[in-house]
Amino acid sequence: MSVHKNVKKVTTHTLQEMKNAGEKISMLTGYDFSMARIIDEAGIDIILVGDSASNVMAGHETTLPITLDQMIYHASSVVRAVNRALVVVDMPFGSYQGNSKEALSSAIKIMKESGGHSVKMEGGIEIIESIKRILTAGIPVMGHLGLTPQSIYKFGTYVVRAKEEGEAHQLIEDAKALEAAGCFAIVLEKIPAQLAELVAKTVSIPIIGIGAGNGVDGQVLVVHDMLGINNEFSPRFLRKYNNLYEQMMGSFQAYIKDVKSGDFPNEKEQY
Ligand code: KIV
Repeated sequence: MSVHKNVKKVTTHTLQEMKNAGEKISMLTGYDFSMARIIDEAGIDIILVGDSASNVMAGHETTLPITLDQMIYHASSVVRAVNRALVVVDMPFGSYQGNSKEALSSAIKIMKESGGHSVKMEGGIEIIESIKRILTAGIPVMGHLGLTPQSIYKFGTYVVRAKEEGEAHQLIEDAKALEAAGCFAIVLEKIPAQLAELVAKTVSIPIIGIGAGNGVDGQVLVVHDMLGINNEFSPRFLRKYNNLYEQMMGSFQAYIKDVKSGDFPNEKEQY
């Protein structure tokens, strides 16, 4: 199925209506024009220009090194491809934690230079002032709680978060604070399914899970992971819809063989 140009665009309002109607929200990451075009035409609701670009596009071990300008480069490539989906752009590490004025100018730069439709920020009550200031400028904000990869050096590990009561309680309080501040949705990453379901029932804004079970309002995956491009990454929460590593490897090897043997190009493939 292909989605035509005059489709009804997904907005933050659409997402709220979907939650209210019990319709699940689909979200995938995207970082470049060609992939984003296919994802959008497939009918996805949200494309997240994730700072996971730092890992899957640039090969860094963490999401910390990616810069504001690099995020804007990825986001503007995605925006040029998209007709229907809501485009959410991650605010990179260091672009909003310092103070709320700096956070606002980073968010404005993203919106002006990429054409994205909203931003995502990791954290709860500790960044609420920055979230509020960005919202005051009319920029929609998606929250991100649970495993927040920009804090990996504080956590020390990528294991499941909020298994203990204290952290679970804090996460619920953070989700309430994000809703009260005016966030339009929250990503919950790698937390127990029961806790995620409780959060989705406690707050009225959409909750999008990754490794957070099925009791939430929608799901997000990193597109390279669900396509099986990285064959070394197989966490329990990941469902692989393809094995592109093997398929791409096969194609590249066949091409190399054809070039070496002189089989490519043949008479029909030349002028
Ligand atoms: O950067 C990213 O890809 C994300 C998702 C894991 C939600 O934040």
